[in-house]
Formats: sequence, structure tokens, C-alpha cells
Amino acid sequence: MKKGSILTLDIEKFADKGKSLTRLDGYVVFVPGAVPGDRVKARVYRKRKKFAEAALIEVLAPSPLRTEPTCSYFGTCGGCKWQHVDYQAQLDAKTQSVRESFEHAGGRSDVTVHPALGAEDRYYYRNKMEFSFSAGRWLTPDEISSGKDFNTSFALGLHVPGNFAKVLDLHECHLQSAWSASFVNAVRTFCLENEWSAWHPRKHTGYLRHLVIRQAANTEEIMVNLVTSHHDADRMAAMSTWIQETAPQVTTFINTINSGVAQTAFGEAMHTVFGPGLIHDRIGDHTFEIAPNAFFQTNTRQAETLYRVAAEYAALTPDDLVYDLYCGAGTISLYVAPKVKQVIGVELVEEAVQNARRNAAANGISNVTFETGDMMTLFNEEFIACNGKPDVLIVDPPRAGLHPKVVRQIGELAPERFIYVSCNPHSQAKDLSYLTDTFEVVQVQPVDLFPHTHHIESVAQLRLRK
Ligand SMILES: C[S@@+](CC[C@H](N)C(=O)[O-])C[C@H]1O[C@@H](n2cnc3c(N)ncnc32)[C@H](O)[C@@H]1O
Repeated sequence: MKKGSILTLDIEKFADKGKSLTRLDGYVVFVPGAVPGDRVKARVYRKRKKFAEAALIEVLAPSPLRTEPTCSYFGTCGGCKWQHVDYQAQLDAKTQSVRESFEHAGGRSDVTVHPALGAEDRYYYRNKMEFSFSAGRWLTPDEISSGKDFNTSFALGLHVPGNFAKVLDLHECHLQSAWSASFVNAVRTFCLENEWSAWHPRKHTGYLRHLVIRQAANTEEIMVNLVTSHHDADRMAAMSTWIQETAPQVTTFINTINSGVAQTAFGEAMHTVFGPGLIHDRIGDHTFEIAPNAFFQTNTRQAETLYRVAAEYAALTPDDLVYDLYCGAGTISLYVAPKVKQVIGVELVEEAVQNARRNAAANGISNVTFETGDMMTLFNEEFIACNGKPDVLIVDPPRAGLHPKVVRQIGELAPERFIYVSCNPHSQAKDLSYLTDTFEVVQVQPVDLFPHTHHIESVAQLRLRK
């Protein structure tokens, strides 16, 4: 096999990051876009010592796990790479990926991993979408073959996978809501009519950078956050009037300024153009205020399932002291607070901690306190001496997992009950592998918050070894 070889392959299984793989005499070949059970023709574009990657040319015999994708951008857009896979097969693949994380990264093949809990809403489930502007528009194969002329110096949509500069100009999207997709189209027209330029990711010029839409699932509130390279009061006044006239559903409009080169919706300044500068959403019995940069689970409905599983695994009692570490806007803290004596939350982002405190007050919950700080430095003997040894420890860190210092501290703290919630089962399994002497993994429950992607949340229940 050489680079450029064309192979006929029978696809065996899903692999890391949603790719599929097969083996030829033990040599692994990854084929992105293929589905287990497919027979495909594919061209090798990368060859390494232990594996090769091949691009799908043709499906010779389709897998029974295939289904018709909904979106016309499927195959080009990086948003939902598994729209062509039957939903139960997606869930099975996610369950298997959690099991394999514990086997490979955690060195444990005996962990009980339950089948992933699926979502009822397979489309329009996200409460937050971050669209990008770019002075480099990526054309789909259909757009190229249409023979039409396109303005390729302006795009508003999502990045194509693996390309930081090029953006697909999305005219439909099934991730947030039909309203959100139509609003994106209206913003594009408004910006083009006013001749506002899109950010050029290589030259670092242009005005428009990102359009972030946060649409609450259980209230009528909508936040629009336009990220621009600099502040222009006149333009924002014009856009504010336009939004209020054409999209009265929008309850608050924010202009974030990011003049740096990093392609992020965070910035050095934030102006609230109209409205309160935040929105509210409800999970379970509680209402949460959400600031522009505060973390909030993007699938509100399934977040409730996730928290329910975490709370069940914590087997809470009225005398419990609970630590909720990496607590964001305090969602897990407030969810468990009515069932326990006291909850202490820790979070890095000050804005989220302020949200958490106000959320507690607004929901009439007085047995929670929140501290701002970096877990790596804050979570030490002094913190524990000051707050007391918890009966239950809940952690929900970002994708990278726990800092080794935090893992060590958890080992020393040795709480009776420990719940690890994670959006990255690989880092979850790896972190827990360092705590095998202290904790036994009782069970793991994957919960699907991200249909049509390979992402999965995973809740692990751990018990202190006697
Ligand atoms: C996956 S979110 C979980 C938030 C919350 N549990 C929820 O369900 O909404 C992880 C949170 O950890 C916070 N975080 C990231 N690094 C941190 C650190 N070093 N110390 C404390 N918090 C951190 C992030 O700001 C984010 O709010």
C-alpha cells in the first residue's frame, strides 16, 4: 500500500473522533465518513508506520446502519458528522467508545459501562451556537458544480473541518432552531448591505468575527453576541435598531471586542447594546442566569438527564457536605442543594461565579457557597480545612480533565462518594487510573448531549475502597 493507492475496504468499526476503521492484515486504515458495515472504495492520503488514512471515494455496498442525512451541507460542514448514521448505532458507538477509553486509557476492562442514554430531540437541540465570519468562503461541491459566481470574500457559518481560515456560508443549520438559522441569514444580508467586512484570519484585517446566539430552551430569552475586531458605536447603534425592528425575539444584544489574532468569541471588552446582558434558562425546578462567557451545558434538556444521573450516583442524604468542583454557573450545585446540608462550588471564571451566586439567591437556595479560583492552586489542605471534608465530591472538568495536582489531592481527600462527570471519557478514564488504589469504579453512565457528533458525556460513580 502506498500513498495514492485505491483500496476496496470492508469497514469494521467506529474509531476515535468519529472516524471509521478497518484492518488489512492487522494494519489499521481509517476512513472518515465511512460507516461500519460499508464496503467502500477509498484513496490512501496519509501513510504512517502503524496506520493509514484514506478518503472515501465511493460506497460500493452501504451499511444497514446508514440513514439519509437531513442537512444539505452534510459531508462538508464540521457541525454534525454522523447525520448519515442511524441514531441507535450512534449511541452504541458512543457506549463502545467509553468502554474502550476505560480499557485503553484507564487500563480497565472490567468497568460496568451502561448503554448511553439517548436524546429525544435529535435536531435543534443546542441552546448556543457560535458562527464565524471569514473573508475566505469555502464552497461546497454542489456550489462549485452549479457554475454560479459566488462572492468568496465573505462567509458567515461554520468552519470546514481542519481549516481555521475557511468558513462554509451556511444557509441552513439544524442544530439550534429554525429561527436561529433564519436569523443568521438575515444578519449576513444586513452586514453585506452595509458593506461591513469579514475578518481575514491570515491578514488579521476586517470587522466582523463571530456571531454567538444563545437561545434558552425553557424560556423565551435570546442573546445575540456579535464579536468584532474593534468598537464602532455607530455601527452598533444601526444594528441594534435593525435587530429590534426585524427580530423582536432577541432580548439582549452584546458586542464583544476581540482585537487579538486568536479565533475566539472571548474578547478584551464587552458592551451591552440593549437588554440586560444575560439570559435565563431553566433546568429541573431551577432558573439560571447565563452571562455571555459563562459555561452552560449546550443541550438543556439532556443536561437535566446528566444531572439526574450524577445526583442518583451521589446517593445524597440530608446530612451531606458536597463539593461541586468546576461548577460553572452552579447548575449541579443548585440541582443537588435541596437534598443535602451544604454545597461548596469552585469555578475559575468570575462571571460564572457571580451568575452562580445570583442563581442560588433567585432560587431561594441558601445552603450553597461559591469560590472563584483555579482548582490547581485553590484545592489544597487549607481549602479543605476551611470548608470541611466532603461526604460527596462531584467534579466536572473541561475536556483536558483534572490537573495531576488535583488528582493527587482527591486521592488524599478520599471522600466516601466521588462522582466524575466528563465530556471526555478518555481523560476521565486516565485521571481515574491514577486513583485505582483509592477508589473502585462502581459504574459508568454515558449520556448523549450531542446527537450526530461523536461527543458524549460520561458520569462515573466511584466508591472509596475499604
Ligand atoms: C464542563 S464545565 C462544567 C460546568 C458545570 N458543572 C455545568 O454543568 O454547567 C467546566 C467548568 O470548569 C471551569 N474551569 C476550567 N478550568 C478550571 C480550573 N482550572 N479551575 C476551576 N474551574 C475551571 C470552566 O470555566 C467551566 O465552567
